[in-house]
Amino acid sequence: MALSGAVGVAAMMPDPVTASSSVGASAPQTVSVKLKVNGESQSVQCDARTTLLDFIRDHLRLTGTKKGCDHGQCGACTVAVNGDRINSCLSLAAMHDGDSIETIEGLAKQGKLHPMQAAFITHDGFQCGFCTSGQIMSAVALLDEHANGQPSHVTDDIADKAIELSDGEIRERMSGNICRCSAYPNIVAAIRDVAARR
Ligand code: FES
Ligand code: FES
Repeated sequence: MALSGAVGVAAMMPDPVTASSSVGASAPQTVSVKLKVNGESQSVQCDARTTLLDFIRDHLRLTGTKKGCDHGQCGACTVAVNGDRINSCLSLAAMHDGDSIETIEGLAKQGKLHPMQAAFITHDGFQCGFCTSGQIMSAVALLDEHANGQPSHVTDDIADKAIELSDGEIRERMSGNICRCSAYPNIVAAIRDVAARR
């Protein structure tokens, strides 16, 4: 006898236990990733789905890079890849084989803080500090981008290679980094200070 209505539909649905076990039957794929982090060569086997953020924190134990939102909204996970800042939570480690990564741990040299780190302290550019490593990595990259003449969304003349680094430019260029403690005025002051001394 033919099944009808909801009973018939239910009979055609795959058994959830069977369905999930067949998905789980394929083992996670492991990949070998070789890259440089803060000047040191690293070679690590990891699950192919590992984000660069988890790779840095969990495999290399460099926990200065923070996980805030884990989906590209807050900037706490900002690192430099071959000199360009990215959200490491949005990128897979396997995509960076051969790349050179810089994290907050790599900024200070021979026990001396990077000028941007020192300026954040001088200008009180943080409260809880959770966003701070991402803010500093972004701020360092921002100054290089500006020095290279890269315009932002608020640049009036994008052909102008000598863009004035106004507070508006700094705020726009730092807009991918959220601070729940709202230390923004002091962060801008720190960046302005370092920019003026370059
Ligand atoms: Fe990556 Fe928030 S943790 S953007
Ligand atoms: Fe607390 Fe920025 S200092 S979130």
